[in-house]
Amino acid sequence: MPRKRDLIIKGFSKLLKEDKLKIVAELMDNQIESIELLKSFWYADSEKQKVFDEFSENTLTNYYVPYGVAPNVQINGQTYLVPMVIEESSVVAAASSAAKFWLDRGGFHAEVIDTVKEGQVHFLWEGNKEKLLSTFGELKKRMLEDAGYITANMEKRGGGILDFELVDLKHKIRNYYQLKVTFETVDSMGANFINSCLEEFAKTLKDFFASHPLFEKKEKEVNVVMSILSNYTPQCLVKTWVECDIKELDNVDKSLTGMEFAKKFQTAVRIAEVDTFRATTHNKGIFNGVDAVAIATGNDFRAIEAAGHTYASQKGQYQSLSHVEINKNKFKFYLEMPMALGTVGGLTSLHPLAKHSIEMLGNPSAKELMMITATMGLANNFSAIKSLVTKGIQMGHMKMHLMNILNHFKATEEEKALAAAYFKEKKVSFAMVGDYIHKLRHA
Ligand code: MEV
Repeated sequence: MPRKRDLIIKGFSKLLKEDKLKIVAELMDNQIESIELLKSFWYADSEKQKVFDEFSENTLTNYYVPYGVAPNVQINGQTYLVPMVIEESSVVAAASSAAKFWLDRGGFHAEVIDTVKEGQVHFLWEGNKEKLLSTFGELKKRMLEDAGYITANMEKRGGGILDFELVDLKHKIRNYYQLKVTFETVDSMGANFINSCLEEFAKTLKDFFASHPLFEKKEKEVNVVMSILSNYTPQCLVKTWVECDIKELDNVDKSLTGMEFAKKFQTAVRIAEVDTFRATTHNKGIFNGVDAVAIATGNDFRAIEAAGHTYASQKGQYQSLSHVEINKNKFKFYLEMPMALGTVGGLTSLHPLAKHSIEMLGNPSAKELMMITATMGLANNFSAIKSLVTKGIQMGHMKMHLMNILNHFKATEEEKALAAAYFKEKKVSFAMVGDYIHKLRHA
């Protein structure tokens, strides 16, 4: 379709929302319909809509994604109804089915291994490293003092700065050092806290080199390249697992004994440990569950994904994040992954549904939410592999997708009920559903 206007728009962000809507609508065939559609997704209460508008820039409307719930998720003996926000039809069903399966076999188990986060001030400095090391204690003290106004509140909550380290990376980039800082951010994800601290440390660093009598001429200058947290959090780590006697797996599939199922399941996971192509899909299945909970609770799922994928590559090859152990008669399936998230601050308290999710989960600490979120990753992973090594995933997947296909054909409630009954025992495909609806309408 030819563009109807020049799309270089200076000062777009300063326009009124109504004017932005009109500009966007000019790209559409039916401008009135476009504006009506976008407005139909606004919150009825304009004050509430304003909160959404202010989350981001140039907000036009809200984009709905289903908010569902997985019941019967038992972790360390406590049972949760876990909120999940996701558009993919089968994810909540898969998580719920795994939750139910493990409820009858002791539930999920989880533990937080550590909660340390880190950030770096990346700087270039040409000088005598020994001098810098000899004054590092003084520098640390100054940095702690200067950032005191930022850290005071966090310290009251039990967190703060844990340690400073000078990392010499001159062998990689000329004159390159890192000031590596570790943090404890308790129940907040802590990105703003960490970044504010790091920018303060960068100021102190510049001032320290410039004013300290030990440094001479060119040593007084430091080139701070950037100050930023690292989303790779291998020390903010959670583990979740399920285990049972292999005979408890006897009824998983009619054609397999418990041991055969366990071995086949283990082989499927081994394949994801050795083959990058499979590992990517395998881990995607884990993130189906993880991201859905992260979004429902207002957490930054991109940060969790980034850390998870880096962690999956820590041995030099991208691998499965989950693993299986079979010891005599015991089957154990576990997942270990980094997980930086929060239950206070950020979107968790501003987005009404994120707030709702947190309350639904019993106002968990960040540690508890780490365990819940990782567990939903394991639950989805378990269901996917269980289907893959038995009946395949398309059967269940397409069953869940049936409603989307029926909606595509604008099926009535009556047609949907008939189609659901008809496809109960049959394979679902777009073409087959199309044929069925056509026949129904022309019978
Ligand atoms: C689909 O969203 C996820 C799966 O492909 C994961 C897997 O293959 O393990 C089913």
